Amino acid sequence: MKRILPLLLLLSVVSVSAQSTYPQITNIPGRNTVCLDGNWKYIVDLYKTGNQDYRANPLPEGQSFFADRSFYADQRRLVEYDFGAAKEIAVPGDWNTQRPELYYYEGTVWYRTMFYHMSKPGKRYFLYFGAANYETVAGLNGHRVGRHEGGFTPFNFEVTDWLLEGDNSLVVNVDNTRRMDGVPTVNSDWWNYGGITRSVYLVETPSTFIRDYFLQLRKGSQDVIEGWAQLDGPALRQRVTVSIPELGISTTVTSDDSGLARFSIPSKPVLWCPDNPKLYDVKVYSETDSVSDHIGFRTIETRGDRLLLNGQEVFCKGISIHEEMIGGAGGRAFSEAHARALLSEAKAMNCNFVRLAHYPHSENMVRMAEEMGIMVWSEIPVYWTIAFDNPETYANAERQLVDNIARDHNRANVIIWSVANETPLGDSRLEFLSKLIAKARELDPTRLVSAAMEKIEYEGRMMTVSDPLLDIADLISFNQYVGWYDGTPEKCDEVTWTFSVKKPVIVTEFGGGAVYGRHGEKDMRFTEENQEYLYQKNIDMLSRMPGLAGASPWILKDFRSPKRMLDGIQDDYNRKGLLSEKGERKKAFYVMQSWYGTK
Ligand code: GCU
Repeated sequence: MKRILPLLLLLSVVSVSAQSTYPQITNIPGRNTVCLDGNWKYIVDLYKTGNQDYRANPLPEGQSFFADRSFYADQRRLVEYDFGAAKEIAVPGDWNTQRPELYYYEGTVWYRTMFYHMSKPGKRYFLYFGAANYETVAGLNGHRVGRHEGGFTPFNFEVTDWLLEGDNSLVVNVDNTRRMDGVPTVNSDWWNYGGITRSVYLVETPSTFIRDYFLQLRKGSQDVIEGWAQLDGPALRQRVTVSIPELGISTTVTSDDSGLARFSIPSKPVLWCPDNPKLYDVKVYSETDSVSDHIGFRTIETRGDRLLLNGQEVFCKGISIHEEMIGGAGGRAFSEAHARALLSEAKAMNCNFVRLAHYPHSENMVRMAEEMGIMVWSEIPVYWTIAFDNPETYANAERQLVDNIARDHNRANVIIWSVANETPLGDSRLEFLSKLIAKARELDPTRLVSAAMEKIEYEGRMMTVSDPLLDIADLISFNQYVGWYDGTPEKCDEVTWTFSVKKPVIVTEFGGGAVYGRHGEKDMRFTEENQEYLYQKNIDMLSRMPGLAGASPWILKDFRSPKRMLDGIQDDYNRKGLLSEKGERKKAFYVMQSWYGTK
């Protein structure tokens, strides 16, 4: 028998549904958890030896999954799997920057960790992943517990019935292979970092617990806090209380037969804003559970082409950010320290707004921005040429939107849900995005919804956005690269912008590349001088733009991309950052700092 990868896995497919995850449990920081982060065993499985039966020959119904020592009737399927001899890798963390041989790797990796556990009577247990890119299948003590697709949103599996008293074996299969019908699809201008990229927790809850809740000011009101709490478990009718001591609030309602409790509470909280990012201690509790959180209250709305925060006109002094740590190995950012490093540079640039491109960033990033008084544009990776006519692709995109909103709908600094970036016009695309926008508004009527659209040029250097989304989105938000992809910086002086609808305008991308420390004439591309000149010309042009309510130039920091291969200039990096990948500020950084300083 040919030597086969030392991998014994009995993989049966109990049910390969599109997503076999439990509804998201929110506010993990406010719950009883055991963190499973650390060094996990891993085995690279390039030929998917461990999956082959999972995909090609499912076992009879009901056979267990990931059984550590089971054999197929057909010995050919037997491969010895010895985690004992395997090496270790850090979780959370992408594998690309932890192992040189995995830098470009795209495929399957198996992880295993052991943890000690003693269950308490009447408690339920869930495995919670902050994110794993791209497809994840998890097994606990030889039993498949669930599958999830999507690389940037949290997911959890109930494992109450599969936990053992004492040592437990958690085996996780992550596959970062890009797919045509995926979200994102196979083409993206960022590195396809694979692995368990955010923290993993074992969450303990009462038998009936508060799975999710939503508390925000009623849209357009500054003196009514509205929302709901959703119970999960056998005892769904309970008295549920929202308590905000600093506001003198303690309101109790009884949940209905579905476990839903709705609140409408008169109150005039101090409003969250960039200059005063006020958060209140909030406690939501029922007869069987209690969760604590820190929640800010504010309003965000548009009136004609004005963007209003708490009823006052606001200008979004922004910058776009990819989720990549500054310095070090430069892989996927996940920690509070990574978040603070990125956001501190945005603050140093006088920003009050960040576009977290092109996918939901970690909860650490969003909560840190909230504490620092930085508003957020939050986006799902419906990016470029998505399979818009594929219903499973839509279901995946909608699930990612639902999970993104569920995780962050109590974060006051999140003001915009974005459903797409630069997607080619067409009927199926319009239907796809229109449904996502409607879903976002159904789930969260308190925030704005939009997408990063594209500009067009017509006669005589006239520029506009011509996209049917303009009629349904709350903003005119679009990317433009006049002076980089479109002419030289001087072209900025020649264009006139007009828009067919009267809505606030946010330019969600502009800019150009520069290698930190490369200097030359301002017309020499990829020099700091050229980037600086390009930014100056763009700012002059933006200042003439009707309805301009914000900007988030592309991008805070140079970031890895498989599409950026110019030797000596790009070397795997998109060089449009205002910082180098090490965090060194380029000249254009100060152009933005100065302009925002005057706003
Ligand atoms: C596009 C896209 C970005 C990309 C950028 C670029 O606008 O939205 O993801 O990185 O252009 O070309 O650098």
